[in-house]
Amino acid sequence: MTTIGNNSGENLHTNEFVWSLKCYQALYRRSIDDPEGFWAEQASALTWEKTWDKVLDWNPPYGRWFKGGKLNASVQCVDRHAQSEKRHKVALYWEGETGDTRTITYNDLFIDVNRFASALKKMGIQKGDRVAIYLPMIPELITAMLACARLGAIHCVIFSGFSAQAIADRVNDSKAKLIITSSGGYRRGKILALKEIVDEAVTKCPTVEKVLLVKYTSHNPPINTEKDIWLSDILDGDGTYVKPESMDSTDPLFILYTSGTTGTPKGILHGTGGYLLYASKTMQWAFNPSQESIYWCTADAGWITGHSYLVYAPLVLGLTSVIYEGAPDFPAIDRWWQIIEKYRVNIFYTSPTAIRMFMRNGEEWVTKHDLSSVQVMGSVGEAINPEAWRWYYKYIGAENCPIVDTWWQTETGGFMISPCIGIQTYPLKPGSATFPMPGVDPVVLDSNGQEAGLNKTGVIAIRKPWPGMLLDVYQNAELYQKTYWSRFPGYYAPGDFSMKDDDGYWWLLGRADEVIKVSGHRISTAELEHAIVGHNAVAEAAATAKPDEVKGEAIVLFVILHAGSVGSTDQKKEIIKYMRTAIGTVATPDDVIFVDKLPKTRSGKIMRRVLKAVASGTPIGDVTTLDDQTSVEEVIAAYEELKAATTKSLQG
Ligand code: WT7
Repeated sequence: MTTIGNNSGENLHTNEFVWSLKCYQALYRRSIDDPEGFWAEQASALTWEKTWDKVLDWNPPYGRWFKGGKLNASVQCVDRHAQSEKRHKVALYWEGETGDTRTITYNDLFIDVNRFASALKKMGIQKGDRVAIYLPMIPELITAMLACARLGAIHCVIFSGFSAQAIADRVNDSKAKLIITSSGGYRRGKILALKEIVDEAVTKCPTVEKVLLVKYTSHNPPINTEKDIWLSDILDGDGTYVKPESMDSTDPLFILYTSGTTGTPKGILHGTGGYLLYASKTMQWAFNPSQESIYWCTADAGWITGHSYLVYAPLVLGLTSVIYEGAPDFPAIDRWWQIIEKYRVNIFYTSPTAIRMFMRNGEEWVTKHDLSSVQVMGSVGEAINPEAWRWYYKYIGAENCPIVDTWWQTETGGFMISPCIGIQTYPLKPGSATFPMPGVDPVVLDSNGQEAGLNKTGVIAIRKPWPGMLLDVYQNAELYQKTYWSRFPGYYAPGDFSMKDDDGYWWLLGRADEVIKVSGHRISTAELEHAIVGHNAVAEAAATAKPDEVKGEAIVLFVILHAGSVGSTDQKKEIIKYMRTAIGTVATPDDVIFVDKLPKTRSGKIMRRVLKAVASGTPIGDVTTLDDQTSVEEVIAAYEELKAATTKSLQG
């Protein structure tokens, strides 16, 4: 057999490699030649109340999967396991930051989901309602999601690092009538006052009728007797059963907000049957879990990685997962390795930014733990740089475990390009996500929309619909069509640069648009700029990114202050704080640079390349191919001017 995790790529052309790749290729070919036949076969992995009438209803750019089919997501994730021999199997090992633990079997989860669903029902939640969830990583977060799904309500999870304003934006867009939150959460030993943040948000959210509170931290948050209800006050006993709503396969399951190139985040709407099938199948193919595997995905359930590969896919597959509430480096830098050792984790899925953080702190924190249980490692959020890849491979995987580098997006629902060790093993190349998942038909296009040849960088586009694809942008069909389908008509455009090499390996090379990736999280320059101008000292601002050793990219803001405001150190601190309250921790700038002027073209467009080069301290590079009317001299002059102003601002 071909060595898995071979990172050298040197035996790529041996017979062994050609043979092993053929197995993947056979399955892949079938998925592309006969997608409907292929996916119909796969779909027997779910339990359908009614079989579909049509596998794919493709009305571009809308793909509707398993039309006419009926099922309920909470049944797929819970009931069918609780009613089988898996009843007493552990679904979740929960580890709180303070060291509290809970072990939840499929039967326990069944009881909890029914009780939670019954509470929601008492509060008047029905099929189609939107419910916002703002919770720390405690089991109730998962139970709440599944309880919504049981009733056919659309959950809208908001990551607990987001600010009151960010909550209000999302709640108002989704018109949620209920927010589920907790007294608080723990982060690095401190209490996160989540309830207080929700209280502030609610003052701006006219649609919110009630706030449902999970008691978690010991402190007593302020209570508004008209709006707030403690979950414990309305929970039934263990025996409660709530009949799952019979949902169409194409009915929405959730909305998850993500950044695009506009000033406000977009509500990505995902469906039921296609999404659940795609998430669970891609997990099986990529990670090859067995029924005995202990799986740990370190993502928060507030992001798509958490939705697909911490909640839905592992539960659909009936696996055992570890979930951890707190910070990776609390109380010490080896907390994660302790958890792996304690639970004997076999499949470990994390991000390059976390790996780089650990790398910087030295391998002695790793080597004092027994990580021999690890068999497979995953990576997500951005391309993993070869240095981090090698460190991960050596210290976490003992040079013995493959790294499954999964390229995908909030919009795609599941992995698009990734090694498929559950289908076949083949040599890996550090930094390459290898080959497309079955059913995924990508192509590299040049700026004219023509197919770029091998080894040529272009943008990636997807030719065929796949079951995990988003249904729509919530109540904004125009934005859906414009963002994803107008760049190259007929193709889904993810917005990433990409290249396919001589061996057919795919390399994903970063965003081709104005989206910044901070620690793997998406934030757009437009969103940052939209928020910052709300500060009363700011007249105008432009956001860009500079490379960062740990975070991948860090935010840099160029700010023009109103006359009368002074660009002092305190002003900088104040702006940084403002960004955290306007959006959340993801939006924390690393640098705020005060300038008198922003580099603009004659038509008034900000010269983004100039901003980026100055922020990163790199040369402006080749400007001969500028596509607007601005001359090379003008760009260089703008660059020099901004560089001088920056030096002054950073010294001052
Ligand atoms: C963007 C999507 C997918 C879940 C987490 C982030 C980048 C993600 C990889 C990877 C290279 C990657 C892309 C993509 N990205 N994974 N393995 N290699 N780039 O989801 O916030 O929707 O961001 O993250 O640029 O477009 P997201």
